[in-house]
Amino acid sequence: MGKVKILAVVGSLRVASYNRQLAVAAQEKVNHTAEFELLDFADVPLFNQDIEFPAPESVRRVREKVKASDGIWFFTPEYNHFFPGVLKNLLDWLSRPVSDTEPQVLAGKPAAISGISPGMSGTGLAQDHLVPLISFLNMKVMNVPRLTIPNAQQQVNQNGQLELTASAPYLEKQARAFIDLIQKKK
Ligand SMILES: Cc1cc2nc3c(=O)[nH]c(=O)nc-3n(C[C@H](O)[C@H](O)[C@H](O)COP(=O)(O)O)c2cc1C
Repeated sequence: MGKVKILAVVGSLRVASYNRQLAVAAQEKVNHTAEFELLDFADVPLFNQDIEFPAPESVRRVREKVKASDGIWFFTPEYNHFFPGVLKNLLDWLSRPVSDTEPQVLAGKPAAISGISPGMSGTGLAQDHLVPLISFLNMKVMNVPRLTIPNAQQQVNQNGQLELTASAPYLEKQARAFIDLIQKKK
């Protein structure tokens, strides 16, 4: 069996995002068993039905990335006990049919969810809101294990770089579980 293809979707556009760094840490964990790509969607415009067809080039590009993947791994911050608007905007675009003959591209894709936050909740509330949305879109959500990392500062060095200690085994466990789930589905 070839390597599974995981597409990472980070719900923060911030260059130094802890969640982006968590995705990079996940990439290091799966390197031998999976292809892993971070989705670049910073150029996806605000959803507007007036510009839906033909889809903007950036939307076509992200749809192709989703279609080519075997599973989507979300790494999302928590904003006001929710997940950020940039992620909702991306999911709104991806929730729409590609054309009259081609349905939306998320249905049936396995999904894993992780997040890191300087606060106490570790993005658990954001994740609890993300699950019903992606379930509605018919993704196959891996509810166990999910990964929530609170108190980010405890695992960030003086330069703002993530250095996972206590959470490293949990990330590894989640990576193994997700790859296993994808392989069973293939
Ligand atoms: C608009 C806004 C709302 C936030 N709300 C929460 C929150 O509800 N819970 C939380 O733990 N952190 C909250 N934070 C802090 C974020 O967790 C923190 O900025 C985090 O570093 C963002 O993720 P990133 O590092 O991946 O960009 C909020 C930050 C912003 C900008």
